[in-house]
Amino acid sequence: MASTISAFNISTIAILIFFMPIHVTCKQKHEFVKEINKEALELREEKLSHFRFFWHDIGTGIHPTSVTVVKPLPKFRNGFGFVNMIDNPVTIESELSSKLVARAQGFYASASQAELALLMIMNFVFVEGKYNGSTITLLGRNPVFHKVREMPVIGGSGLLRFARGYAQARTHSFNLKTGEATVEYNIYVTHY
Ligand SMILES: *[C@@H]1O[C@H](CO)[C@@H](O)[C@H](O)[C@H]1NC(C)=O
Repeated sequence: MASTISAFNISTIAILIFFMPIHVTCKQKHEFVKEINKEALELREEKLSHFRFFWHDIGTGIHPTSVTVVKPLPKFRNGFGFVNMIDNPVTIESELSSKLVARAQGFYASASQAELALLMIMNFVFVEGKYNGSTITLLGRNPVFHKVREMPVIGGSGLLRFARGYAQARTHSFNLKTGEATVEYNIYVTHY
């Protein structure tokens, strides 16, 4: 009888020792973050690209692409508080009739009480060439009457994954009659 009990105890200890490392392995498996190699995501060489195109803000006409969805607060005289939702065409040359390369989708909002400075949040969705379907995300401050406005590029998707860099916006033309603005964008991004 005594020998049976000790045999049982020994096998229990053996089982405990045997399963202990497995328990540790399982615990590691359930961790939700781990370091991986760039190769695992097929990320090769980091590239630097310069995009140049023209952004058209069309607020009037039969097919406006920029629509005020929140009106400015009457309390402020400079338009503070308005929000425009945009799906603006982006073309290769300054003419709206030139080749469409992307759409700029997002919104801009008047975020300064002192001057006309916009908070811009938009995705450039490419519709042409190698980058068709890929996107660049821009988020920044746009004091529209300054000659050059610099805004950060905070990310990208598709071929532009890990995109980061900056955009420089320069007003090319502004039609007071139609309210249509054409802005040249030069965007410098590193990506894979
Ligand atoms: C861009 O991609 C879309 C969706 O895959 C496709 O329908 C369209 O023809 C492509 N455009 C060009 C110019 O390759």
